Amino acid sequence: MAPIIRTVNLTKKFGSLVAVDHLNLEIEEGEIFGFLGPNGAGKTTTLLMLITVIKPTEGTAYVGPYDVTREPDKARTLIGMAFQEPKLLWVSTPWDVLDWHAKVCGLSSEERRKRVRWALEELGLWNERHKSIHGFSGGMRKRVEIAKILIQRPKIAIVDEPTAQIDIVGKHRIWNMIRALRDEGSTIILATNELYEADVLSDRVAIIHKGKLLVCDAPKKLKDSILGGDVIEVVLEKEVPSKIVEELKAINRIVDVLAVKPNCLKIYLNQAEEVLPRITEFFMKVHMPVKSIQMSEPSLDDVFVHYTGLTIEEAQKR
Ligand SMILES: Nc1ncnc2c1ncn2[C@@H]1O[C@H](COP(=O)(O)OP(=O)(O)OP(=O)(O)O)[C@@H](O)[C@H]1O
Ligand SMILES: [Mg+2]
Repeated sequence: MAPIIRTVNLTKKFGSLVAVDHLNLEIEEGEIFGFLGPNGAGKTTTLLMLITVIKPTEGTAYVGPYDVTREPDKARTLIGMAFQEPKLLWVSTPWDVLDWHAKVCGLSSEERRKRVRWALEELGLWNERHKSIHGFSGGMRKRVEIAKILIQRPKIAIVDEPTAQIDIVGKHRIWNMIRALRDEGSTIILATNELYEADVLSDRVAIIHKGKLLVCDAPKKLKDSILGGDVIEVVLEKEVPSKIVEELKAINRIVDVLAVKPNCLKIYLNQAEEVLPRITEFFMKVHMPVKSIQMSEPSLDDVFVHYTGLTIEEAQKR
């Protein structure tokens, strides 16, 4: 089956900055596709080109059969997007904004009332439906933005940071709603900085950095692809000098060592159970008391760190 979205050398320059750099991606119909990358990687810019809000500088993208540069009006009919920074009518109320949105999407008045009510209830906004959005918190505004796409149920639904600023109960609700939307037949593109969210929702994820695609595959495959199947996290009483990190790397079966914080190391290795005693011995020998030590499976965080060369903290600081 042909992919429902295909980007062909999709490129966007802002002056001398190449925000999206010859991106080639294929998104299959019916999948939840996670789109990851550090702040400024080019995620939102790519998505805005797909929904034809901004024009590519070079290359193009196909949305269904439509080329976004040649038939933007047709491409747009297949896509709906919940924006990272919602530009709602701040003077309005959730009910008015959503009812208007449903009308623009062509829903009948009965269907409109039903779906708007359902979305407001599901997102915990029912009691606030007639209050001015002006007084809403960031998380509440974001919920109104998400409601738009749940009401529209487009063939391709793009959600850009859907749960940023949203509390944990709200997050789970939105994740379930995204899954339900997919089960009803929508293809979902999920741009997020929350790697856990990408991991639990996505069938496949792409990681981009500085506008370029680094890797694209199922989360499980990406996790398995990291050298060293195990991860040990060691928290020490004091800062770890880089000399110590280098000495650790020389231990047999240790593949890589990363300082995630000055006093916290992530050690990527094979056969962790066997190497663990040698690691604790090593820290005793160099007089670096260990505060805690923990063994885990690689997470999508580790995949991200591996491919971008940035720790999660660095990626979010940029
Ligand atoms: N309208 C614009 N004019 C100039 N530069 C822009 C514009 N929009 C985006 N950029 C730049 O393009 C780059 C990519 O930005 P983009 O918003 O696509 O990143 P992102 O991956 O969505 O990041 P985040 O995780 O912070 O949402 C950044 O360096 C940004 O400053
Ligand atoms: Mg963005």
